[in-house]
Amino acid sequence: MKDAAPQTIYLSDYTPPAYLVDEVHLTFKLGATDTRVISRITFRPNPDAKDTDFFLHGDDLKLINAAIDGQTVRPDISSDGLRCAVPNAPFVFEAEVGISPATNTALEGLYMSNGMYCTQCEAEGFRKITFYPDRPDVMAVFTVRIEADLPVLLSNGNPTASGVGWAEWHDPWPKPAYLFALVAGDLVAHSDTFITQTGRHVDLNIWVRPGRDEAKCAFGMEALKKSMTWDEKVYGRVYDLDLFNIVAVDDFNAGAMENKGLNIFNASAVLASPETATDADFERIEAIIAHEYFHNWTGNRITCRDWFQLCLKEGLTVFRDQQFTGDMRSHAVKRIDDAMVLRAYQFREDSGPLAHPVRPESFVEINNFYTATVYEKGAEVIGMLKLLVGDDAYAKALDLYFTRHDGDAATIEDWLQVFEDTTGRDLSQFKRWYSQAGTPRLTSSDTYADGIYQLHLRQETPATPGQTQKEPLVIPVAVGLLHENGTEVLPTTVLEMTKAEQTFTFDGLSSKPVPSILRNFSAPVIVSHETTNAQRAFLLAHDTDPFNRWDAGRTLAQDLLVRMVRDDATPDAAFLDGIAAVLRDDTLDPAFRALVLRLPSEEDTAQTLFDASHTPDPTVINQAHETLKLHIAQHLQDTLPRVYADMIITGPYTSDAGPAGQRALGNAVLALISKLDAGKQASQQFAGADNMTQQLGALRALLQISKGADELAAFEAQWQHDRLVMDKWFALQVSLAAPQAAATTAARLTKHPAFDIKNPNRFRAVFGGLKANTAGFHHPPYAAYDLLADWLIKLDPLNPQTTARMTTAFDTWKRYDADRQTKMRAALTRIAKTPGLSRDTEEIVTRILG
Ligand code: TRP
Ligand code: ZN
Repeated sequence: MKDAAPQTIYLSDYTPPAYLVDEVHLTFKLGATDTRVISRITFRPNPDAKDTDFFLHGDDLKLINAAIDGQTVRPDISSDGLRCAVPNAPFVFEAEVGISPATNTALEGLYMSNGMYCTQCEAEGFRKITFYPDRPDVMAVFTVRIEADLPVLLSNGNPTASGVGWAEWHDPWPKPAYLFALVAGDLVAHSDTFITQTGRHVDLNIWVRPGRDEAKCAFGMEALKKSMTWDEKVYGRVYDLDLFNIVAVDDFNAGAMENKGLNIFNASAVLASPETATDADFERIEAIIAHEYFHNWTGNRITCRDWFQLCLKEGLTVFRDQQFTGDMRSHAVKRIDDAMVLRAYQFREDSGPLAHPVRPESFVEINNFYTATVYEKGAEVIGMLKLLVGDDAYAKALDLYFTRHDGDAATIEDWLQVFEDTTGRDLSQFKRWYSQAGTPRLTSSDTYADGIYQLHLRQETPATPGQTQKEPLVIPVAVGLLHENGTEVLPTTVLEMTKAEQTFTFDGLSSKPVPSILRNFSAPVIVSHETTNAQRAFLLAHDTDPFNRWDAGRTLAQDLLVRMVRDDATPDAAFLDGIAAVLRDDTLDPAFRALVLRLPSEEDTAQTLFDASHTPDPTVINQAHETLKLHIAQHLQDTLPRVYADMIITGPYTSDAGPAGQRALGNAVLALISKLDAGKQASQQFAGADNMTQQLGALRALLQISKGADELAAFEAQWQHDRLVMDKWFALQVSLAAPQAAATTAARLTKHPAFDIKNPNRFRAVFGGLKANTAGFHHPPYAAYDLLADWLIKLDPLNPQTTARMTTAFDTWKRYDADRQTKMRAALTRIAKTPGLSRDTEEIVTRILG
């Protein structure tokens, strides 16, 4: 059965709920294919409502019976919910529904994962559990009873009573249904306690299935305690329950979920040991634990009025987790990492058919808007606001936000109002960042005469789907000026650009300075400055802003790669000597040196060429990248072994930023050494590695030179019992396959006994790996397009959310030549024409096809 044509929902159509909920009582009688959910909900008419229609969302629910104030009723049931006549006064609605968690492969609502019951309700999954006003502006106090023959039964809030086969929970904090959670299974806890600054004792647990996972919880627990301390210190936010539970789940559509008092995590986002997780995994886990914990205030205590306001909680919470990681590790390195992610994912999204504003104005399926734009650009917008108003005003505005809106379902207007009220600033122009899609281009040029230096800035935002006319934005442009001898003549200064074109004047300069523009990546824009490569090399050597120092090297590399692709250029000394100097400079943080050594991705080069109105050819791009790596290896030949040796760590493994940076540089150097020694050193590192960072770094270096068959087999034999490590094994082979072998490698791995279409991590390992292999994905005769389309069509009926997300692999199709476009359009059309296609995937293919 196909549902009615999907409807578009508009922000401008928002109306307050007709009825509010005071209390919800839920009883779950758990059964794998027949779970009964018995609800008792106290409603009252909303005095602010515009209508009296009583509608409860419900998706695929079997209604057993329903009653209002104790009288049986027979509601009108439709494909998306129920309607019923109700009194014009407070009333109690009761219902019993039947659902089947064991057959729920969508991983939304109540489902089963390796024998464990768990839930995922954001954004609109609660309606798959029972009939309810499933919208974030309806907040209620939940009391839950779970009945099941299982040892551990968890829900939100505090436990109130339990016995053999049952448990009761009460969450005193009113919450929207999307924050509801339930977990039941045979679980064990890694436990600890935390005492808040107000003296509250909080029990902390990380729950896992018994077996090997207990040994992978310690790091996550430390991260949780650090997050709690940090939020108290930096934002004055204290935890508000006596219990904080985290549960690790193997089958999960995203990273993790901030359910009140009961966070549910993708196992990959919480479990780590030195042997099984890389340094990057440790850092990601620390950040995701922090992110979900920080949601307790920015998301849960203050939630969103409607899903168009998603960036209110996500942009702010990402911004907070970025600050946290900077404080725990290195601000410079974190800023560079975040900028790389933003450019790779958000700029790509913003320049293609899926571009949308940070606060979208319409959607078909809200799950499709958990995007890099809402999350990462949403965080950038907050960073700009903080830069414009200053740290003190930011802190005051946040205090006001927390006191004024605690308990509210708020909007972006509410958020900006606290800044206007604390600073007296008019933010109406700044607000365009929330409504205008597309990445602004910032072009700069400069002149110097008689001690006066002028910087001319011009901003322009290209058209995006549905938005042809763009207005000038408020752009904080942090600049510094350097004397040609390398000293700084103007320390970082924030220029506030508000017009399409603007000139900034600096006087009293004895010679023409070298400008360092958009320091610390002060705005999510693409800068093009009329800079010579000599100036870039100068900035790579001398810039006092670490971000721009790195970015100068990055721009040099990108410019060179583009010239290699377009004009067959050969690598020049300006670039090679520049990175050699950084590599040799032992005074610099190894993590920073590793970043400078890292080239832009092939995807970055494709996008850069496309931006310059050139049709990228992924095969040629791949060759240029390979050639450049070889040149770098040869040019640095004498330095590499010395640096590799310097990075060797004696003593036990810790994932702290210092040693992690050393391993990052060691692995970057190893990849280059492998180009010259046929993988000898890498095989040695693989054999001797006692941690996953070095084991995987060695394997990667080998696969990059088309070696490592024995190591791959050894790795599989060693780690076949560990799902998370095997995900790396699947992903690495596909993402690093030679272009002509990528599709066949992916196809072969789908036949591996450990491939499981129902597990999103495994599906993403193979097909995310294929997408990440740019030259392989686009390799003639384009078998990868067909393979991916086949598997998306297979996955869609099982898991629409993951299918829709993976379909975005095709979002760059218009960049390419006619042949590739035709083939990608054919793959997309085939997906679009699949009978019964989910609303999620249908929306994405329709938008990509345009
Ligand atoms: N709110 C979650 C976060 O950002 C993410 C999330 C949204 C999610 N929808 C989801 C997680 C669906 C899993 C499944 O932290
Ligand atoms: Zn979040």
